[in-house]
Amino acid sequence: ALAAAPSADLAGVSVVVSAGGTREPIDPVRFIGNRSSGRQGVAVALAAAERGAEVTLVAAHLDAGVLGDAQAHPRVRIAHVGTAGELAEAMTDAAAAADVVVMAAAVADYRVAEVAPRKLAKEDADGGLTLHLVQNDDILAGLVRGRRPGQVIVGFAAETPGEGETLLERGRRKAARKGADLLAVNEVGWSVGFESTDNAVSLLTADGDVVAEVAGSKRAVADALWDEVNGILNKQ
Ligand code: CTP
Ligand code: CA
Repeated sequence: ALAAAPSADLAGVSVVVSAGGTREPIDPVRFIGNRSSGRQGVAVALAAAERGAEVTLVAAHLDAGVLGDAQAHPRVRIAHVGTAGELAEAMTDAAAAADVVVMAAAVADYRVAEVAPRKLAKEDADGGLTLHLVQNDDILAGLVRGRRPGQVIVGFAAETPGEGETLLERGRRKAARKGADLLAVNEVGWSVGFESTDNAVSLLTADGDVVAEVAGSKRAVADALWDEVNGILNKQ
């Protein structure tokens, strides 16, 4: 038998994916960051491109090793950003012409209220340092509020299960709060999720229904996500 032709089930679909982790400056040499590697988001972007989509990858501090094949793919355009504010602007711009929006980036929840113009020095402090943080806008919630008709919006949530509450319960509350079509919920901890090549996620609707559960490579998770998105697009 002949091998099946490569699937192009997303041909003609315009997609924007954020990946990586934002960094909020404290002073010219320091920042508040997080441990997101960006691998899952890059896998989502590359899988879409290989399935035929036109992809804008909004990359927050992704290095060449993580971007990998996405850098050379003819249907992937990469926009580099640093802070949550820059990510918000890039996503809002790209979302205006996108059929599907995926927020896989780890966005800093807070930024420093006043960034120091010069490097903070210990001799100016008295044995400690207090940073005043202010909350960043919720980009995903803003994208959901401003969505185009028919646009499909997907979020990710990395959770550490708490006392008396399962991962799914936390994920359901977040899915309801965000209002995205799909929320990919996965467990993270000190040693799982972030740096690893494998991932395990549940895909929840805004109503909290689990429409898919997938464990495997980040590419396998990405393909499962695109299968679900495609199902939503085809129902419209
Ligand atoms: N997100 C976003 N803008 C923010 C924070 C998060 O768009 N300022 C997006 C993330 O990219 C992700 C989803 O929201 O797709 C869930 O992120 P998460 O940090 O789990 O949610 P939060 O609403 O920030 O809740 P928490 O207090 O649990 O961090
Ligand atoms: Ca957060």
